[in-house]
Amino acid sequence: MNKAIDPSLMQAAESTGSTSMDAFWMPYTANRQFKKAPRLLVRAQGMHYWDSEGRQVLDGVAGLWCVNAGHGRPRIVKAIQDQAAEMDFAPPFQMAHPKAFELAERVAQLAPAGMNKVFFTNSGSEGVETALKMALAYHRVRGDASRTRLIGRERGYHGVNFGGISVGGIVANRKMFGTLLGGVDHIRHTHDLAQNAFSVGQPTHGAELADDLERLVALHDASTIAAVIVEPVAGSTGVLVPPQGYLQRLRQICDKHGILLIFDEVITGFGRTGQPFAAQTFGVVPDLMVCAKGLSNGAVPMGAVIAKQGIHDAFMTGPEHLIEFYHGYTYSAHPLACAAALATLDTYAEEGLLTRATEMQDYFAQALHSMRGEPNVIDVRNIGLVGGVELSPLAGEPTRRAFNIFLDCFEKGVFVRTTGDTVALSPPLIIERSHIDHIVETLRGAIRRAA
Ligand SMILES: Cc1ncc(COP(=O)(O)O)c(C=O)c1O
Repeated sequence: MNKAIDPSLMQAAESTGSTSMDAFWMPYTANRQFKKAPRLLVRAQGMHYWDSEGRQVLDGVAGLWCVNAGHGRPRIVKAIQDQAAEMDFAPPFQMAHPKAFELAERVAQLAPAGMNKVFFTNSGSEGVETALKMALAYHRVRGDASRTRLIGRERGYHGVNFGGISVGGIVANRKMFGTLLGGVDHIRHTHDLAQNAFSVGQPTHGAELADDLERLVALHDASTIAAVIVEPVAGSTGVLVPPQGYLQRLRQICDKHGILLIFDEVITGFGRTGQPFAAQTFGVVPDLMVCAKGLSNGAVPMGAVIAKQGIHDAFMTGPEHLIEFYHGYTYSAHPLACAAALATLDTYAEEGLLTRATEMQDYFAQALHSMRGEPNVIDVRNIGLVGGVELSPLAGEPTRRAFNIFLDCFEKGVFVRTTGDTVALSPPLIIERSHIDHIVETLRGAIRRAA
């Protein structure tokens, strides 16, 4: 893994370094801070990145929760190269290409039984918008058009488009953007430090928080509610693992009231929790499931919504020459993305990666929970190969302590992610014990230095 850096890449990085950084308005980035001390990645292989200064950086986050099979996998690289040479683009409206059908079949095979219709998007955010629109339209095509209300959850993250931030519950993502979508409400989040701090795996307290949906049913009436959307494990808000029995209860309440349940599995999909989807890990089948990221190992942007047969079939009425669902993207099922995703699924299958988190999770959990007792660590959370270490914020400067720790870890050659004052870990599923040790010890050092 300790490969020398390709000189041409170094050159490219150096030339980027000397180019003005003014034009690129960076997403979800502290632009001014970054541009004063840039962190430029120039190469990636296996568990590692290399930066423009030649530093090898162990990837504790799978890029951005997406490179589940590790970086630079030859089969995926070749599939993309071959596809680009064979056919660059195929229009997805009223036309198609064979790999789109093949991929949809393969994704459906991985999903819980009965979830067998796959609609492709280019990102998780687009997947969320698609699922919300599908839910609203589903009720309408069945003649139940009063079901227009969408329910999210406090602290939820569902991407950055208007539907997603409306049902989302992270204030910084919402407060700048006006009144958002109408007819949206939120159930309570499940974070409970008082009762559940340092839970290993699923916390024991909090199944009853699902009953908050009953409160909203009592307030709005079930006949106005189309769907509830939650992340089975909330990622971007700082890794919140669902309390035991919580998702089951949510499913029961949705069933009772004819409300669709949408799982946003953008982070949890493709092996993160030890099964292909968290729906299988927790034994709860939603009606619609959003995925992205690990679908194509992050190599080409791609997302998808997986729907139950019955939802799809409800649309298949009326004259056959008419479009059934007025929705889609120019790049839905893009040939390069399909090729990358098929090769990704082959890689996962060949190496047993979609269940590898079950083998590694005890070691990962033990290593992570050894952080208990370190300065300012107020909680450690984990499930499968995803973990969070929550820190008490610096007085008057929320998020700063975690951000400093992130910078320190990077300096020492380990890439972690911070959300608020939580350090989040979601390494590639090819991770070995030695990598876990390295990540955790580097993080421990940074936490101590930040005290
Ligand atoms: C749960 C969840 N939903 C949606 C998204 C948005 O995905 P994208 O950034 O691909 O639009 C993310 C991204 O992190 C996510 O974690």
